[in-house]
Amino acid sequence: VNTDVPFPGYPAPWAVGVGSENAAADPAWAEAYAQAIEFVSNLTLIEKVNLTTGTGWEADRCIGNTGGVPRLGFRGFCLEDGPLGVRYTQNNSAFPPGINVAATFSRRLMRLRGEALGEEFGGKGIDIMLGPAAGPLGRVPQGGRDWEGFGPDPYLAGVAFGETIQGIQSRGVIACAKHYILNEQEHYRGSIDVRIDDRTMHELYLWPFADAVRAGVGSVMCSYNKINGTYACENEWTTNYLLKNELAFQGFVMSDWNAQHTTLGSALAGLDMAMPGDKGPDPYQSLWGGGLTEAVLRGDIPQWRLDDMVVRIMAAYFKVHTGDYADYRPDINFSAWTNETEGYLHPSSNHTRTVVNEFVDVQADGKHAELIREIGAKSVVLLKNNETTAVLPLSKPASIALIGDDAHDQPGGPNACVDRGCFQGTIAMGYGSGTADFPYLISPATALRRQAEADNTTFTTTPPPDGITTGNNWDLETAQKTAAGADVAIVFAAATAGEDIFSIDGNAGDRNNLTLWGNGDALIAAVAAVNPRTVVVLHTPGPVLIGDILHNPNVSAILWAGFPGQESGNSLVDVLYGRVNPQGRSPFTWADKSVDEYGAQLLFDAPDPKHPSQSFDEGVFIDYRWFQHSATGYYTVPFGFGLSYTSFRYSNFTVTLNEDVSGILDPAKGQTAPAPEYGDIDLDDDPEHRAQYVAPDDFERVLPFYVYSWLNNSETLVAGSPGNISDFPEAARDGSPQPVLPASGAQGGHPGLYDVLYTLTAYIENQGNVTGTEIPQVYVQLGGHENPWGVLRGFEEVELAPGETKEVTFNLTRRDVSNWNTTTQAWEFTTREKVVFVGSNVRDIHLNSSLPAPK
Ligand code: NOJ
Repeated sequence: VNTDVPFPGYPAPWAVGVGSENAAADPAWAEAYAQAIEFVSNLTLIEKVNLTTGTGWEADRCIGNTGGVPRLGFRGFCLEDGPLGVRYTQNNSAFPPGINVAATFSRRLMRLRGEALGEEFGGKGIDIMLGPAAGPLGRVPQGGRDWEGFGPDPYLAGVAFGETIQGIQSRGVIACAKHYILNEQEHYRGSIDVRIDDRTMHELYLWPFADAVRAGVGSVMCSYNKINGTYACENEWTTNYLLKNELAFQGFVMSDWNAQHTTLGSALAGLDMAMPGDKGPDPYQSLWGGGLTEAVLRGDIPQWRLDDMVVRIMAAYFKVHTGDYADYRPDINFSAWTNETEGYLHPSSNHTRTVVNEFVDVQADGKHAELIREIGAKSVVLLKNNETTAVLPLSKPASIALIGDDAHDQPGGPNACVDRGCFQGTIAMGYGSGTADFPYLISPATALRRQAEADNTTFTTTPPPDGITTGNNWDLETAQKTAAGADVAIVFAAATAGEDIFSIDGNAGDRNNLTLWGNGDALIAAVAAVNPRTVVVLHTPGPVLIGDILHNPNVSAILWAGFPGQESGNSLVDVLYGRVNPQGRSPFTWADKSVDEYGAQLLFDAPDPKHPSQSFDEGVFIDYRWFQHSATGYYTVPFGFGLSYTSFRYSNFTVTLNEDVSGILDPAKGQTAPAPEYGDIDLDDDPEHRAQYVAPDDFERVLPFYVYSWLNNSETLVAGSPGNISDFPEAARDGSPQPVLPASGAQGGHPGLYDVLYTLTAYIENQGNVTGTEIPQVYVQLGGHENPWGVLRGFEEVELAPGETKEVTFNLTRRDVSNWNTTTQAWEFTTREKVVFVGSNVRDIHLNSSLPAPK
């Protein structure tokens, strides 16, 4: 892997609301910048630093908190996890995670989910939601946090990322695109050095983040790992060069929790907010806070860099506070650190006991539950449906046998394990920080029993309803007894995955293997052996080795339900009984018998555990890109696959080249203005002047654990571990005009990348006798052996009544048909022959055409 960085990553680009003049970009930045500049110009040095630095772990009520500007009545920011709901509170909803909403292939549901999330976070008084995630992208299927995001295809992930962000931010809450970047596994996440080449970075991992920036995301979280030798939150290539310069990101970059390593290195590499702000209890210090104040006074960090941090933070704030949300800022009304009504305002210091939870209900009177049920149902992927046995959809079967621990309530309730860090009962989300407490969880057993009672269907289960719902999967004899003779046997199996803060059964976040947990594979085989009308339901974070289940003739149907959230059972019953015709499509590829069928592998045991390093040698060939490319080309369930209760026919393909758009993209040119400074701050090093940066005598500190921006005293400047300014090139502090990168110019990169080059149309007909939704998918072959067979570049959600035909249109942008040229540092339409395909999944293509070359 050639990891040479083509251009220097210094200085950190200063934001000015760039892109706001581009019609395609979000115009809200321009106004937000005007407001932010006015606000920041009035701040003192201490007040500026306050907004950049967390007050410390558990120092205030939210998972992350910054200082505020008390003089102006502006409270600090409240940051809270996580991607699928408000973590650590009550009267909130537990939504399906990213992987499920990706499986719907529905822009509408992605947006609605984002809006609902924004409403819930806003209602709790949260300023910044720590999500969505498209890093990990899903390089390896075992990746512990893959399910928090939208799957390993960058195009699908990018669409879902953008829709979610716009949804969240439309409700007055800043979204945070995380984790930036290449945090593709949990093992060694805090030390692994990921080696990657420039092209793979652009065409795969950076792609969704470009969509996030284009969607106007307010914040980005840098990740724990290193990239090409440098920690993500100190990495001038990924943050300064790629994110802030090339993609022209106008918001702010926060660190993942303790992912910041130095005062100077992080500031000069473009970090804008340090989280959680402290460096741990003993000796209590902060890399920023007083350390940053000191670095600015010393001249190590230029004032323009500090001003840029603060103006970016405030611009993101003003950007989401527009229209109906201009004055929307509810008080923080919950505490992440206790479920009791009373608690400490500053728990790390046991300081100020008062009411900290008001239990504000943010579930929108059942509206969010309805949406959750819909997403849960529409994300179910029907992986198999035997037409001969025709078990599904169910219609008043005489009897149902329900088998498997995963069908049942968890003993102790759905929140029995903190952050869902255990494997019991039905699995409806993964574990770790990307979780929320369930308000309730409708188990499959509950919902199926209700339906069976209404239909007079005899309903038996193992384990029994009042039984213990763990460990029964090993009792194959009872399972077989229950299943034999039932009209339909529905067997449930699951696996989970999460963040490495927990280890379940030796799985430290990442899954150790791709088999089902809790004896699931044996249970399915045992049930199928006695009942040819077996339906398998899977709750898993990603693919499992599906070959044996898929090819078992007695398995009549298989449904992947992912992690459905609080309405799990209701969503499933909607699909099983045909009230919702399945439209879910697999957002990843399923292997047959071995994890080795996937090209990329997870690093479980580093040869040198102190310096773990991994080269992403597979380049762009992950997931289906690899399966299409590898020698065998064999796989079991392809990306994009999903059955329906009806069938569809494709016809009449047209491809139109937009003659007005040239194939050659003029590189962006010109220079930026010099770095602006906002307001006068006194940087004189006369001790009398310094005195203003030491806490006044009457200042009451929260002790012992709270981060402040004050210097320790007026004579000596004391910081944590600042780093040495002589280690950085002069350019790192250069505020003079800088050249614009060729691929830059607007949010998300060169605005011409988003010009529509081709318009495709096709007809799709519903040939069956029930209404159904087809998800036509566009794959583009960019040509040459260095490109995958095809890459997803479009999809639509097309609902069709029986016999109905609709015309579908897809737009291909210049970006969609370009490769990254590492020499020119620009996207280019290459001379290789290109083909466009439209199909029902990556292996089932119905229409194709060559792409005529543009002028
Ligand atoms: C670490 C996780 O990686 C990140 O996703 C989360 O937002 C923070 N912890 C805060 O909980």
